Amino acid sequence: MIKQAIIPLAGLGTRLLPLTSVFPKELLPINGKPGIEYILDECIEAGVNEIIFIISKKKEMIRKYFNNDNFYKSIIKKKKDLRIIKEYKKILFFKKKIKFVYQNKPLGTGDAVLKTKRLIKNNYFLMLLPDDLIIKKNCSKDMIKIHKKYKASVMASMKVKKNNVDRWGIYSINKYLDKANFKISDVIEKPHVNNAPSNNAVIGRYILPKKIFNYLKNQKKGKGNEIHITDAIRRMILDQNLFIGHKFKGNYLDCGSMNGYINSGIEISKI
Ligand code: G1P
Repeated sequence: MIKQAIIPLAGLGTRLLPLTSVFPKELLPINGKPGIEYILDECIEAGVNEIIFIISKKKEMIRKYFNNDNFYKSIIKKKKDLRIIKEYKKILFFKKKIKFVYQNKPLGTGDAVLKTKRLIKNNYFLMLLPDDLIIKKNCSKDMIKIHKKYKASVMASMKVKKNNVDRWGIYSINKYLDKANFKISDVIEKPHVNNAPSNNAVIGRYILPKKIFNYLKNQKKGKGNEIHITDAIRRMILDQNLFIGHKFKGNYLDCGSMNGYINSGIEISKI
């Protein structure tokens, strides 16, 4: 059962400067709604009932966004505005499900995951990277179905342009289980175009096993001097743990870059 999700939110968002010099990128509106709420909606709809936010001291504003009760109560008392009441109820609903842990040094996604160790209860949990929005189809929900069928770890996959492989984790495919799912034989974090085993990229949805914490504890720094979840996954695959790549059906939107962020708003407004 996948009942917990984790969301790394400690990143600085430098690619979105100047918008992120004061605001956390995950609170920036995309078609009138903070990006993080799209991610939360996806989790809830997929059946997750606890969400762990990995934030940093610099991103306290995210905590405040979900814990601003006195402010809402005083406004609602004065104005009795139905729209505000509805929005507040939604925030309260999310708040009850969110827990916070801290990653104050930007040591990478693997290090962020390790911070959630003491809170993870079941053998598997979901991770969503908030830069990656997937619209029109709930990717997490579909991945949970694959996880149930194969009792394995699952990661989202999408083909990217060959000259862009050094921006992504890249899969090496062992064999196809069906049209949309394949057994992963290797995964490499941001390879040079000449060393890339394919152009099938890792997209930010992962169903990870609790066992990964044992690997992360002694995971050495990799590309960019960061601890990568990709490198820990790679070691697990070499130890014969089954990881499945899932070619998701929805549309991918990259909210982490300026062009992508602007385009996300446009695409979502068309739905
Ligand atoms: C992270 C992962 C990378 C993956 C990407 C998906 O990179 O390390 O393997 O392909 O997310 O968005 P980042 O975007 O943090 O550089």
